[in-house]
Amino acid sequence: MSRDDSSSRSAHEREQGRGVPDPLGRAMLAHLHDDPGRLTYRDGGDVQDGSVASFYFSDSSSWATETVEILERLTDHEPILDVGCGAGTHLLWWADRDVEAIGVDVSPNAISTARERGCERVCVGDMHTLPVATDSVGAVHAVGTQLGLGRSLAGVRAILEEFDRVSHESGIAVVDNYDPTRLDESFLGYRSDPREGIAHRCFHLEFERESESDDEPVARHERREIGRTLQFLLCSPERLREATGGTPWVVTDVLRSPESAHYRAVLKNVNRRGAETKKRPANNDGRTVANSDSRSLRR
Ligand SMILES: C[S@@+](CC[C@H](N)C(=O)[O-])C[C@H]1O[C@@H](n2cnc3c(N)ncnc32)[C@H](O)[C@@H]1O
Repeated sequence: MSRDDSSSRSAHEREQGRGVPDPLGRAMLAHLHDDPGRLTYRDGGDVQDGSVASFYFSDSSSWATETVEILERLTDHEPILDVGCGAGTHLLWWADRDVEAIGVDVSPNAISTARERGCERVCVGDMHTLPVATDSVGAVHAVGTQLGLGRSLAGVRAILEEFDRVSHESGIAVVDNYDPTRLDESFLGYRSDPREGIAHRCFHLEFERESESDDEPVARHERREIGRTLQFLLCSPERLREATGGTPWVVTDVLRSPESAHYRAVLKNVNRRGAETKKRPANNDGRTVANSDSRSLRR
């Protein structure tokens, strides 16, 4: 596939990404193309390296036991939808094991990266209005703390309802977050909240490419892409349980290393509303990975 990212995107995806800063996706694509650059998390004067290589391109042999355990668990629930699939790392793990999985990410450059790495069934889309047909997937995997971008318990609940829309009645979902009862002010972007088990995290991402050559210097502002401020809800597993209220999801398992603030939660769809309840249709423009793609969901 061409290294020109524009050639590997559909016109619709180019339109979706036009004018929107995409530092994380740019950093992924630059890493894939061996273009030197640096991704930074920034909250005022606090900065942290974005660790693109280790976060998005590491070999599965270096992954935490819980990461692999979760990926293995989902293999019994094909097709899997990876929401916020990034550079496609987990999709590639499933592909190597012949497990059917599709990916959606809001970042056009992340999707280009995933495609160039060999992920075929990925598309640009927002987790709030997934470009995926109703009742079409057996599992939703949303790992990378993007669920927190719901920004409130109500916002998280709305995303879980969208995960329910696309899921089979017996579907499962895996989401992750940081438990604020195990964090303090030293966590980059941390904002406290008076409620037990709730906090917030605010930062923005910046990606800066290194200058192409000394002969042709490029102005710093042209090499730098600055993302919008991201605001995450941080919630304990107990608060996540609260957020599932009114949705068909129940938290059945929480996985984390001892002492770690980061956790993954497994949610089971128990369809408390009854099997006859009609789910609302997709509220996007009708494009879906599952049913507008020329390839069908089933291989
Ligand atoms: C920390 S990365 C995790 C990527 C991948 N899941 C992984 O673990 O390697 C979070 C991903 O969520 C994506 N994302 C953020 N907001 C999103 C949204 N509203 N809809 C879909 N994807 C989103 C980002 O573009 C990014 O690729």
